[in-house]
Amino acid sequence: MAKTKRQIHLGLFLQGAGHHVAGWRHPDAESGSENLDLLQRLAATAERAKFDLLFLADGLTSGSDAHPSMVARFEPLTLLSALAMSTTRLGLAATASTTYGEPFHIARVFASLDHLSRGRAGWNVVTTSYARTAANFGARHPEHDERYAIAEEFVDVVKGLWDSWDDDAFPKDKAAGVYADADKLNILDHKGKYFSVKGPLNASRPPQGHPVIIQAGSSGPGQDLAARNADIVFTAQQSIEEAQSFYKSQKERVAAHGRDVDSLAIMPGFLPVIGDTFAEARDKLALLDGWTDPTNAMPLLVERLGHDLSGYDLDGPLPELPVSDQLQSRAKLLTDLAKRENLTIRQLALRVAAGRGHHIILGTPVEIADRMQLWFEERAADGFNVMPPYFPGGLDDFCSKVVPILQERGLFRTEYEGTTLRDHLGITRTADRRGVA
Ligand SMILES: Cc1cc2nc3c(=O)[nH]c(=O)nc-3n(C[C@H](O)[C@H](O)[C@H](O)COP(=O)(O)O)c2cc1C
Repeated sequence: MAKTKRQIHLGLFLQGAGHHVAGWRHPDAESGSENLDLLQRLAATAERAKFDLLFLADGLTSGSDAHPSMVARFEPLTLLSALAMSTTRLGLAATASTTYGEPFHIARVFASLDHLSRGRAGWNVVTTSYARTAANFGARHPEHDERYAIAEEFVDVVKGLWDSWDDDAFPKDKAAGVYADADKLNILDHKGKYFSVKGPLNASRPPQGHPVIIQAGSSGPGQDLAARNADIVFTAQQSIEEAQSFYKSQKERVAAHGRDVDSLAIMPGFLPVIGDTFAEARDKLALLDGWTDPTNAMPLLVERLGHDLSGYDLDGPLPELPVSDQLQSRAKLLTDLAKRENLTIRQLALRVAAGRGHHIILGTPVEIADRMQLWFEERAADGFNVMPPYFPGGLDDFCSKVVPILQERGLFRTEYEGTTLRDHLGITRTADRRGVA
């Protein structure tokens, strides 16, 4: 479906217990990482507001110091299968790891989700940053750039498997007795450095051709992986200047791969704290921050920096730290932020507890819409991954107060024009090997 006018794309970054580490304690919050009723209501709210997609992050570890939204939660693909049944238009995207997984399994589950949802599936390709994950798989944790080399091959294999059958490979011709047409079968027969996968996949071609591919690492290798493969890029950016510089770099890499730069939507995350006045929004954040302390905030900071900070004075400056092998771009964002604003370790931990390094917008609905419009028009973003601090109130406020302003300004759709996630993004269905889309 050709896009007529450039408009903002909106994703709901769904974390059942809220994005703010203390969001679950807000009087209007319901804890929901394992609460299907709430999760279905949130998906319905996002769909009524005409969001492009709902997105589920994921990791393969837990622990008592984990973020409340992540400590115990539904497996994403299982949850999205349930949400596919309670929604009709909303895109449904989940995270799956290329370091701890097999291309055959991943190709299969996302093909299935695309069929079940009639073309609304998206895969957030992650390389899994945290080394402790290896202990759950009896594996060695590969280093940063190798994780991306594995991911490049992994994604190629998955795409090849999605093309196992041509679009019209299943005539199901009762009279002729032909269920599957052998001439329309493509055996992948992949033998690479990291994977050996024969194929074919036991799924027909997905409704979107290929489910939408999302990439969320912002380091050089992360941007290259996205430039070659992604339809959406998620990223954390603190200021409009940083976001514009990332946007430019990512789009240049897309162009260098001979792709149309508009075929990839860059969607930074942001945490909206909404009040009828600025003071009310500020007080709301202060209430949540008041429930934040080193016990729940420091593990999130240490995890993102990739370095142990015990032994350092919490009220002193962040020490110089070598580049982390875990999340390179996020560690850099946080160390830059601490330097720029002269933050102590404690103050930096508080910021991470609220938005994990994502931009926090505090204000009235108009002020929030203004900021979104500025980032969009100044090419810092093609859309946003909306991260309410708590659920359902934080999402309800955004949908009932901010979305209508964006719609009145012609910046966001008032109706879905198509049925698939690719339609919402304004990108075409992926053709099969004969070029049939
Ligand atoms: C919005 C957003 C969502 C992410 N979701 C996940 C996730 O669910 N699981 C995960 O392992 N990493 C997730 N990441 C982390 C990235 O995949 C990546 O590992 C991280 O940004 C560091 O990448 P880099 O080393 O290329 O900078 C997410 C990042 C962003 C910006």
